[in-house]
Amino acid sequence: MIGQTVRHESSNPNDALRKSLKLPCGAILKNRIVKSAMSDSLGNGDGDPTEAQIRLYERWAEGGTAVSIIGEVQGDPRYPEKPGNLVFGTHTNKQAIQSLVSRAVIAGAHLWPQLGHAGALAHLPISQPKGPSALNVEGLHCAGMSDEDIQQLPDMYASAAAFAKNSGFSGVQIHAGHGFLLSQFLSPLFNRRKDGYGGSIEARCRIVLEVIDEVRRAVGPSFPIGIKINSTDKLEGGLTEIDALEVVRLLDRTSIDLIDISGGTYFPGAKSSSDAVSDGGPYFLEFARRAKDITDVPLMLTGGFKRRQQARDALASGVIEMVSLARAMVLCPRLAEIWLTEKGGDPEFPKFKSPPRGAITAWYTMRLAALGQDSENTFTLNPERALRDYDERDAQRCIKWRKKFSH
Ligand SMILES: Cc1cc2nc3c(=O)[nH]c(=O)nc-3n(C[C@H](O)[C@H](O)[C@H](O)COP(=O)(O)O)c2cc1C
Repeated sequence: MIGQTVRHESSNPNDALRKSLKLPCGAILKNRIVKSAMSDSLGNGDGDPTEAQIRLYERWAEGGTAVSIIGEVQGDPRYPEKPGNLVFGTHTNKQAIQSLVSRAVIAGAHLWPQLGHAGALAHLPISQPKGPSALNVEGLHCAGMSDEDIQQLPDMYASAAAFAKNSGFSGVQIHAGHGFLLSQFLSPLFNRRKDGYGGSIEARCRIVLEVIDEVRRAVGPSFPIGIKINSTDKLEGGLTEIDALEVVRLLDRTSIDLIDISGGTYFPGAKSSSDAVSDGGPYFLEFARRAKDITDVPLMLTGGFKRRQQARDALASGVIEMVSLARAMVLCPRLAEIWLTEKGGDPEFPKFKSPPRGAITAWYTMRLAALGQDSENTFTLNPERALRDYDERDAQRCIKWRKKFSH
């Protein structure tokens, strides 16, 4: 049954998963298991948390996870990934945020918002997308950013980070992966600029470094700042592994605390990691091995972890310091606790036969909503139905979003 754990194996008391980790900024992560950034689509359409979202993060914290990362939290409501994103700013409902933090930052568990900006991939019904360059390809039309637009970005990320710190979140992750704005800057497919922000990989990475510097200035030296990057866009003409290694080299010179390695994009027609159906994993370990040679910054790997043994092996190899899980944590919100006990047990992944594009991610997202209502035991949606419900819910939220933010 989905969410049940199967297969047991004995564990070593010195299990690498249980060790704490001290980040360069001095913060302690209590074990090596992270709930990866997921856009849970549980914001209320006004950019504020719902009770279901608060309960969801409470459950992951109760389940022993060292860090939970809230996917796609926006500092600028003009370029959201979805209308269920949280928005940090003057209009945010502080009481709801307080409730989220007080229930999910417990027992040494960290809660980090992933600071996003969807750029060219901003949700069309509530955005007029802008990316590094104007694009007009099938399924993707966006304007290009002006110099002024780019110059405002570091401040926007820094304000959102300061909001997070002042509200009691215990760190932030900057989203520079999966084809969203900062990842678009890194990718030659999206970034065709001829100025100081385009061209060589150093120039394409410039805005990322400027964002990190400004965020650090805003939160001070002892607050964790992570970043999620692509090891490859998995697209012809996109970011290559060679360029991604250069990004790691550049990040090594910054004050970043944790580099989260992932891959794939949500470019029309591209394969995203969250829609992957293959059994093999973890996906980007070889890249991480090469990255390890060029940086001392702790590395986290996201993508394809399904069994505890894979996580242990990856940690034992010395290549990565943290294991990050998305879908496994949706199937079993207590997974960290289970993997840290002697008995162990792995989640049973559902197998979907030729689901429509986006339906797997939709299925996992709708299951997140069920987790937030403690009703996963009666969750029976198939991917097609999940996709329909997910789109309908978004359409409702768009109405609220427009009302609140369109001025
Ligand atoms: C429902 C869902 C939503 C996701 N949203 C985000 C997101 O907001 N930000 C992000 O960086 N990755 C997001 N991802 C991708 C995951 O963080 C992860 O990179 C991917 O699912 C592969 O990891 P896994 O094999 O452990 O699932 C999402 C994945 C899922 C399943």
